[in-house]
Amino acid sequence: MTAVGIDAIEIWTGKLRLDLPGTFAPFKGEDPEKYTKGLGLEASSFPDVYEDIVTMGANAAKRLMDRRGLTPDDVGRIDVATESAFDNSKPVSTYIAGCLEQVFDGDFHHANKGERKFACVAGTQSIDDAYNWIKAGRNRGRSAIVVATDTALYERGDPGEATQGAGAVAMLISEDPDVVELSTEQGYGSADETDFLKPNQQFPSVDGKRSVQVYLARMREALEDYESVAGDTHLDDFAYIPFHTPFPGMVRKAGLLGFRHMIRDTEIEADLAGEIGRQPREGEFGSREAYEDAIREYMDALKRTETYQDWYAAAIEPTLTISRQVGNWYTGSVHIARVSALKNAAETGRGLTGERLLVGSYGSGAQAEIHAETVREGWRDEIGRLGLDEQLARRYELSFEEYEQIHDAHNHVKETEIEELTQPSGEFVFTGWGRMNERKYDYIE
Ligand code: HMG
Repeated sequence: MTAVGIDAIEIWTGKLRLDLPGTFAPFKGEDPEKYTKGLGLEASSFPDVYEDIVTMGANAAKRLMDRRGLTPDDVGRIDVATESAFDNSKPVSTYIAGCLEQVFDGDFHHANKGERKFACVAGTQSIDDAYNWIKAGRNRGRSAIVVATDTALYERGDPGEATQGAGAVAMLISEDPDVVELSTEQGYGSADETDFLKPNQQFPSVDGKRSVQVYLARMREALEDYESVAGDTHLDDFAYIPFHTPFPGMVRKAGLLGFRHMIRDTEIEADLAGEIGRQPREGEFGSREAYEDAIREYMDALKRTETYQDWYAAAIEPTLTISRQVGNWYTGSVHIARVSALKNAAETGRGLTGERLLVGSYGSGAQAEIHAETVREGWRDEIGRLGLDEQLARRYELSFEEYEQIHDAHNHVKETEIEELTQPSGEFVFTGWGRMNERKYDYIE
């Protein structure tokens, strides 16, 4: 069977940086440690005034095509995942293709284009669409470009404001891929939920605390569903476990639940029993309440054990490095967690070829998806050519006042007079509106 998966990855971060503990927290009258220790965030990325989901997506896709020496004829699909779209009919992928046609010879007239929506899980769903298209033999030897691009803004004053971010991840999905091969086995946890939604409005309505519980419940269902087809998961099956990361503190909760699940009825649980007891089993309690109290107590003790902390430091912590510096990129978030893990392996000289990742995606509304990936031989080369650290270091540092102006500049119903804060060079920029209210873009040399 032909291996299908991610062949190449490129990332484009919004060009502005907001320091959360240093700039944001003091203005909000909050303890900086709520950000660094609680949410696990250092900074957010924001788009400059000439950037948006199209420019960030097109810039990431251009880098991907340049690096792999691709022409439009090599690409049979362009799928965009976003929850920041500005048009209910014309998909963002057409704008991105239009941008790319400005700089590449040829066109994408024979490429299928679309836009996927299911909150943050849509990026993973777009990869699935491309995977299925290739597996079905409909790709005519061509690859698919999947772009996950978002400007994740919340209403000012909403608790979610602490977790904002903006950027794009472009991925090439091909046969015989260089980075990871995707497993056919998948697990889903999906239910009609109203934890986070944007009913025809730019900024989300969020029930933040509930959204955390819904994330955990759906992720757990997805893991059980995955195990029903792929067999039980064990700690040493996976080198890293990249999760959707709205903020690293969320993944800390998911990681602990996953650990508890994976060690249940294993020697690890038995070994830990001397230190913290066995996991509570519901049948052993008179009420659900008593059982939940016992679980909370067990989890508190579990997270303090060396066994858990060592596993977390090796399998989860390395997936969070980029997220800490950029915030939530919605559809791109789980894909930067994967890159973060691979980058960690490359930087620490770890051999990863043939090892597996367990990837947990999530979208509010709500759906979690879990699948495994096997790392391929070309991964180190691919990750080594990303140049992400330079992009992150080059970001313009926002003052609080500039942050508010930039937030207003990207607010669809506000007019603001802010000049650009950075100089575009070698990238696509937004230039204004056309006669049918379409957005216009140019490439700046
Ligand atoms: P909040 O009420 O501002 O924060 O909102 P908090 O008071 O809950 O504090 C956050 C954490 O920091 C807590 O940790 C505090 O204890 C800790 P926890 O107890 O949960 O482990 N803390 C401190 N730690 C050390 N020193 C201190 C300190 N102070 C506090 N001084 C909330 C937090 C997540 C609710 C908010 O940011 C929010 O609404 N975010 C948006 C929604 C969200 O991201 N939800 C995540 C799950 S849903 C999801 O992932 C989907 C999403 O990506 C969208 C999509 O799918 O499209 C959002």
